[in-house]
Amino acid sequence: MSMIVAHGLTKRFGDLTAVDNLSFEIDEGEVFGLLGPNGAGKTTTIRLLACLLIPTKGEAEIAGYSIWRDQLKIREITGILTENPCLYERLTAYENMEFFAEAYNITDPREKSIRIRELLEFFGLWDRRHDKVGKFSKGMKQKLAIARALVHRPPILYLDEPTSDLDPESSKAIRDLIRKLSEREQCTILLSTHRLEDAEKLCSKVMIIKEGRRIALGSPSQLSMMVNEYNVLEIRLRHPHKKIRSILEDISGVDRVEIGETVIRIEMKKDVEEVTPIIVRHIVEAGGEVLSVTPIRPSLEDVYLKLVKGDGDKA
Ligand SMILES: Nc1ncnc2c1ncn2[C@@H]1O[C@H](COP(=O)(O)OP(=O)(O)O)[C@@H](O)[C@H]1O
Ligand SMILES: [Mg+2]
Repeated sequence: MSMIVAHGLTKRFGDLTAVDNLSFEIDEGEVFGLLGPNGAGKTTTIRLLACLLIPTKGEAEIAGYSIWRDQLKIREITGILTENPCLYERLTAYENMEFFAEAYNITDPREKSIRIRELLEFFGLWDRRHDKVGKFSKGMKQKLAIARALVHRPPILYLDEPTSDLDPESSKAIRDLIRKLSEREQCTILLSTHRLEDAEKLCSKVMIIKEGRRIALGSPSQLSMMVNEYNVLEIRLRHPHKKIRSILEDISGVDRVEIGETVIRIEMKKDVEEVTPIIVRHIVEAGGEVLSVTPIRPSLEDVYLKLVKGDGDKA
């Protein structure tokens, strides 16, 4: 079931079109990645879907509610981590959570304390609940900011660049938590990022945008096939020897051969499956001992750089 459906979503600021006719669907329980360079329109898109901005035109429905008509309902069912979340540095972690619980009308003391404890435990902050947030590391602040966005149990969560500014270790901790959140709480998560590692590791579907426009949409592996100019095969040999090169280069379909210490990298325009058996046979006949044969897909990073540098809608 689609939890978020956007159709022709557009936002202009004066002459600038920040979000340009975007259409996409996000399934329930999915972690959907919104990718793009700075200024691409990620934050604006999230703000539109969270009803913090009114679109210039277009429509989006969040769990069936229209961003034009049902703003209050949408705010109830969505949680948002904004680009620069402001926490109260002079309050403790617990007090920050209480403040937001009350802002979301969770006033029953028992319900409030259960929810806060549950979230602080989930984010590994329970032992630090009485510490002032001003003393927290960036990673801890980010965890608290996400916990805060979940206080009213929203089934949909928007995370705007949740790992930017974090060191690799804290980024990984945040990624692990997002994954756990999507698995355990069945939360539908829309995550914007310019970190490809986040998208590759977390997202089942990714939309790449540039200058407000969609340039690609699909699963990370679908995207990697879109720009697959060359098919690449890596073969590990026990003792690669020099004459292997000329043998391989003579095979029809092989375009480029690189010989490393233990790995031979072969690029071809033809389908890997078609050429692989021929390549392996030639290597074996030449006395090579094949340890492994691995077809290599371009990484999401390769795809991203290629699409963002080029132009036109390819999806
Ligand atoms: N409130 C605003 N007023 C005018 N221009 C804005 C406003 N918000 C964003 N923009 C512009 O819209 C474009 C998209 O911005 P943004 O959505 O923040 O991109 P991203 O989050 O991908 O970096 C940028 O060119 C930005 O300068
Ligand atoms: Mg942004």
